[in-house]
Amino acid sequence: MAQTQWWQRGIFYQVYPRSFQDTNDDGIGDLDGIRARLDYLVALGIDAVWISPIFPSPMADFGYDVADYCGIDPMFGDLEAFDRLIEEAHARRLKIVLDFVPNHTSDQHSWFAESRASRENPRRDWYIWRDPAPDGGPPNNWMSNFGGPAWTYDPASGQYYYHAFLNQQPDLNWRNPQVRAAMHDVLRFWMARGVDGFRVDVIWHLMKDADFRDNPPNPEYGPGDPDIRRFLQTRSTDQPDVHAIIAELRGVIDEYEDRVLIGEIYLPIDRLVTYYGENLEGAHLPFNFQLIHASWSAPRLAELIADYDAAVPEGGWPNWVLGNHDQPRIASRIGARRARVAAMLLLTLRGTPTMYYGDEIGMENVPIATEDAHDPWEKNEPGLGLGRDPERTPMQWDASPNAGFTNGRPWLPLAADFTTRNVAVQLEQPASLLGLYRELIALRRDHPVLHAGTYRKITALGDVLVFLRESAEECVLVALNLAGTAQDDIPLPPGTYGRVLLSTESDRPRQERVEGHLSLRPNEGVIVSLDARG
Ligand code: GLC
Repeated sequence: MAQTQWWQRGIFYQVYPRSFQDTNDDGIGDLDGIRARLDYLVALGIDAVWISPIFPSPMADFGYDVADYCGIDPMFGDLEAFDRLIEEAHARRLKIVLDFVPNHTSDQHSWFAESRASRENPRRDWYIWRDPAPDGGPPNNWMSNFGGPAWTYDPASGQYYYHAFLNQQPDLNWRNPQVRAAMHDVLRFWMARGVDGFRVDVIWHLMKDADFRDNPPNPEYGPGDPDIRRFLQTRSTDQPDVHAIIAELRGVIDEYEDRVLIGEIYLPIDRLVTYYGENLEGAHLPFNFQLIHASWSAPRLAELIADYDAAVPEGGWPNWVLGNHDQPRIASRIGARRARVAAMLLLTLRGTPTMYYGDEIGMENVPIATEDAHDPWEKNEPGLGLGRDPERTPMQWDASPNAGFTNGRPWLPLAADFTTRNVAVQLEQPASLLGLYRELIALRRDHPVLHAGTYRKITALGDVLVFLRESAEECVLVALNLAGTAQDDIPLPPGTYGRVLLSTESDRPRQERVEGHLSLRPNEGVIVSLDARG
């Protein structure tokens, strides 16, 4: 097997810092809290922590509206607290990846204050300003991802500015070389401080159509649907010239050793894989969200795995994501039983896995009434189920008041089941989901074929998905029963002999012999190490 990098061998774990661990009793998580939980992450077995934005911000979009790229919001700590976190993480061989939000700033960023001050201001062109349409309305039909037009009128200067998200999140003009240079320096600032890489927010948005032509309507949606879905974002995102911009970012990343560039991209597979760059000069890992949107059926999963695996360019490294702070939790999407099989799938597929905090204990979406919503999307387009608060609730550490998350009042409510579903309880139960995650992660580490081997589908019959991971050294078979009914005598290819390494059902004997066929209980997955051939 070729030599692999840490971000190819390792497992990423996303921390949503507001909700991980509070240490100053304000009900909001902080950097010292993450530091206090590093040993938990080491014991879990993950390799890298991606932290959602921690920079000074008015928090209109909970940190995705950055007012200063080179500081820490006092809510989370300060630069000294950040340095302590990096130092202690590195001492434990954990990598730290930051969330870089280059598409837009906060409207409170000093750059935007200057830009909006007048049409003549030297920073005017750092943002996207356009004259009104002939009728005085917005320059084109582009919609905000959070509802309503993506253009806000500035009466003082008589122009509109563009914001793909909130009007408090004006888009930067990436065609301006000064903007690019300033943002490159931001990356250097954090890498010099020891940061191991970046997850780049909405990287496919960075360039817009140079002529600002209208987006075409999306025939699948209409009135009553979320505004953003009513148009295909073909002019406002995913422009061909974005790749040169990303290659520049990659060039800056490569000025430092061993750093990683991850891109957030919600696009179909054929578009997504262009973000590796034509000559692999793009993102190391364009996030692959196929599992988030997939329906839970063996043929469908087999199809998308094959399509994705085939589409990743030669030399590009695949990756898989099961959840994040913008999507309903996996345990709520498919149910608690099936979440165990999903864990096995995530950790046995070819490609770097990314986990979302709390999914390892099966945290579920916590219902939050519209009137209690914090998320601006829910507030702007209430009642459509768009709000993201339910998947951002505090980590459930133990059964003490507020789940060990805070001594104050948590900023979002805790799940009702936190006294029984928490880290402390599950650490005591080897059969728990946390126990399973720990075993899966340890297995992935002990069997390099699981991160570096090839993927080969065997069957996707009915509800059972069977695939092989193969390398010159080892061959592992993974069989997943996605149904709530038992599957008996599943035929395996002739000559398949091996022993069970791990089942999602903890009472299945390890080392159990497998010969030619396999029976699985409802929602059971097994990993089988195959005997050497020949
Ligand atoms: C990304 C973030 C999301 C944020 C948006 C705007 O999609 O993941 O949380 O609201 O970008 O920055």
